[in-house]
Amino acid sequence: MIDIHCHVLPGMDDGPASMDKSMAMVRLAVADGIRGAICTPHWHPLFWPNERNAIVIAVETLRLRLQAEDIAFDVWPGSELSLDADLEAGIADGRLATLNGGSWVLLELPGAFLPSGIDNLLLNFLRSGRRLVLAHPERYHFILRDSARLHAWVEMGVAVQITAASLLGRLGPEIATLCRVLLEHRLVHFLASDGHGVENRRPLLREAYIAAAEIMGSDDAWRLVHTHPQAVVRNEPLLLVDFAPLSLPRKRPWFKFW
Ligand SMILES: [Fe+2]
Repeated sequence: MIDIHCHVLPGMDDGPASMDKSMAMVRLAVADGIRGAICTPHWHPLFWPNERNAIVIAVETLRLRLQAEDIAFDVWPGSELSLDADLEAGIADGRLATLNGGSWVLLELPGAFLPSGIDNLLLNFLRSGRRLVLAHPERYHFILRDSARLHAWVEMGVAVQITAASLLGRLGPEIATLCRVLLEHRLVHFLASDGHGVENRRPLLREAYIAAAEIMGSDDAWRLVHTHPQAVVRNEPLLLVDFAPLSLPRKRPWFKFW
């Protein structure tokens, strides 16, 4: 398995504070059957100003430590980018990190409110040749209230990452139920850990992969933790033949009550 969303680099965000803690996370991931991770520190212009150069250096430092300890675990640079007016310019001029330096971008939206003009923003982003992975939409209030919006974005070409812990119910039954519905309707392309440490938000995928396999079958679940992540690492598009989104059940119109 390959984890495309993991805060494993030391001292960059709310992930591990030291290299030793990063190494402890890697050991946990390896024991879980994960063979590599895209390291995705937060980027936010005010709170987490982690730019590409610093991330690339931190990944290289971690890679050298892994080699020194003879641990077979690949690490690649990336970033979880917050929605911001500076985002497109920052990616275009190379200040901000894409996933393994390719055209894939991991985007986080504000969870509490729907950003105005977001549909056009996503569309323009895709038209500019970028490939988008939306980070954990199951946690966004506006998707919990109206998951058909996510369906429209997937039809537009946005890829979706849900977090292992969300599917396993660690964020409550409502979010877990939404994850199940999204998986059933093939509206999820990646299962990732969003790992932050070894105590909470751990870098694990196996249990969630098994849960996903029970919902959608092991072949499709394997796409989410291996085939699609590998395409991102290689800067390739996802091959979505036989993986088209199914329509979400429509809510009963109000007049049907009468
Ligand atoms: Fe994250």
